[in-house]
Amino acid sequence: MIQLIHVSKRYDQRSALSDVTLEIGKGEFVLLMGPSGAGKSTLLRLLIGAERPDEGQVFVHQKNVTTLKQSDIPYLRRKVGTVFQDFRLLPKKSVFDNVALPLLVQGVSADDISRKVTEALRAVGIEHKRDQLPAGLSTGEQQRVCIARAIVNSPVLLLADEPTGNLDPALTVEIIELFKTINARGTTVVVATHDPLVMAQANRRVLTLSQGRLLPEQGVSS
Ligand SMILES: Nc1ncnc2c1ncn2[C@@H]1O[C@H](COP(=O)(O)OP(=O)(O)OP(=O)(O)O)[C@@H](O)[C@H]1O
Ligand SMILES: [Mg+2]
Repeated sequence: MIQLIHVSKRYDQRSALSDVTLEIGKGEFVLLMGPSGAGKSTLLRLLIGAERPDEGQVFVHQKNVTTLKQSDIPYLRRKVGTVFQDFRLLPKKSVFDNVALPLLVQGVSADDISRKVTEALRAVGIEHKRDQLPAGLSTGEQQRVCIARAIVNSPVLLLADEPTGNLDPALTVEIIELFKTINARGTTVVVATHDPLVMAQANRRVLTLSQGRLLPEQGVSS
């Protein structure tokens, strides 16, 4: 599903990723760990073509993202759901409309939108809040709306950047369990985090970045 071959990325003269080679198979659930500044977000942005590597190749879902035309990037993004910290909900739109957005921009029919959004809201357990505005929801509920929006298009890959950053331990556990359920339905999941609780709760393969380098992998504990 994901392959990085000798990938390096620099900002100005500073190295954000150095010679990273890794492979993530279809159906895997992988945690991307490492301290602040290690390069986690940079790696995720490379996967959706939001950044280009200075060296190396990036493959996602059999597409070489490195050489993908700018005009082909929206097609890649339809296959990839993202839960990024800076990607907020629209405050004046209902929960339903927020989740419907990725489908609206693709011209999906109203019937299909209704069905898919209902399914996604049900999957994250907030169907009963569909007509509310984001401001009327708790932080954990808002995060679940973001996840619903990310999975509404049945992505082959779900990328989440610090999805539990603002959540207390109980909600963190809930969100990780939700990712496990989504993963069990066949979506490959990659979660970037520096939260040890996420690692303990997920109990899945861990890739660790340190100053832009990938550390040797430990054995999987489950
Ligand atoms: N747009 C940018 N311009 C300049 N430098 C950047 C940019 N984005 C990231 N960097 C630098 O690249 C390095 C890796 O940043 P990145 O955001 O990938 O780390 P991270 O592991 O996601 O950290 P955090 O846990 O704080 O989110 C850091 O040194 C950061 O300052
Ligand atoms: Mg980050």
